[in-house]
Amino acid sequence: MNWIELEKGYIFQTYKRFPLEIESGKGAWVFDRQGKKYLDFLTGIAVNALGHCHPEITAAIIEQCQKLCHTSNLYYTGPMLLLAEKLVKLSKLERVFFCNSGAEANEAAIKLARKYQSGKYEIITCQQSFHGRTLATITATGQPKYQKGFEPLMPGFRYVPYNDLAALENAITEKTGAVMVEPIQGEGGVVIPDNNYLPQVRKLCDDRGLLLILDEVQTGCGRTGKFFCFEHSRIKPDIVTLAKALGGGLPIGACLAREKVAAAFQFGDHAATFGGNSVSCAAGLAFIQTLESEKLLDKCRTIGEYFLNQLVRRLISHPLVRDIRGLGLMLGVELTEEVAGEIVNRCLEKGLLVGTAGPKVIRFLPPYIITEAEVDLACDILVKCVN
Ligand SMILES: Cc1ncc(COP(=O)(O)O)c(C=O)c1O
Repeated sequence: MNWIELEKGYIFQTYKRFPLEIESGKGAWVFDRQGKKYLDFLTGIAVNALGHCHPEITAAIIEQCQKLCHTSNLYYTGPMLLLAEKLVKLSKLERVFFCNSGAEANEAAIKLARKYQSGKYEIITCQQSFHGRTLATITATGQPKYQKGFEPLMPGFRYVPYNDLAALENAITEKTGAVMVEPIQGEGGVVIPDNNYLPQVRKLCDDRGLLLILDEVQTGCGRTGKFFCFEHSRIKPDIVTLAKALGGGLPIGACLAREKVAAAFQFGDHAATFGGNSVSCAAGLAFIQTLESEKLLDKCRTIGEYFLNQLVRRLISHPLVRDIRGLGLMLGVELTEEVAGEIVNRCLEKGLLVGTAGPKVIRFLPPYIITEAEVDLACDILVKCVN
């Protein structure tokens, strides 16, 4: 059976896939159909945060599957409630809505902001942001390439440059109800704002009666060394969204909000058949419990620093490299030329999976369980490919 031919024959041609047929994975490694192994420093785009087939997560999935998979939200189920309790404690927000993806979590956030602010429907987002591929979230996404061909877009979004407080302030109108930002822009090129940006945005929102929505779909769940990236800035959003790593490899999304904001959604205002699915939530619980019991947030910080230092030491003076940046295990190497895709292809040939964030940035989202030896190996391959 030729998977590449089957894909060509049967699947919507929306993805340009790498020529790699992945059959299995273990820890930081995946194996193709020929048995060749690859070091996975992309983790399914920030999903497999504890690596592939982590024993605790796998056991939780199997146990839950043998008990109950799905009920809908017409009834009460345990894993969803336990995961909600955990997320509320971690975020210090009060309520959770569960769905199935990052885009859906952001849809919930957008709807909630509109309902809460009744009439003040405008949401300010950032240029180069990424919030998903549904119609509302491509509109929220400040990148025309994702919007082209799908007009008319949703009304009510305005865009400002990231990390620019004055531009944000100038964009506020009497119709503005919320500001929606990523604490670090992921797809936009691993862009880290100034330390005071988020606290200033928080203050501006407070002063002007706006909701602050943080999209932590990529930065959340420990990726930056804290469970939520906003903890680095010592602020609290009104609404925060999660997905990706939250399900330990299974699909899940979550929108969390302060009590008074969440109260704007009344019975029947929002729903998702699969939201809070028992297996996804059991996997999510196992993920967070393992994160805590194995102190993986600390590990994420220390190994992230090690990785960043190695990248800087070995590549910063290379003529093709403009900048190297990151927080925790969300890192990027910005190039002087648009050759990130070519380098990523070469890395794949040499057994390393990494990604791009735009044409000039090589992106790394390794699992939190990587070792220094694996980081060294990844750097060896990367340096060869950049050269
Ligand atoms: C910051 C951010 N928001 C939203 C999304 C969309 O998530 P999903 O693909 O699960 O819909 C992504 C995906 O890359 C993301 O990085």
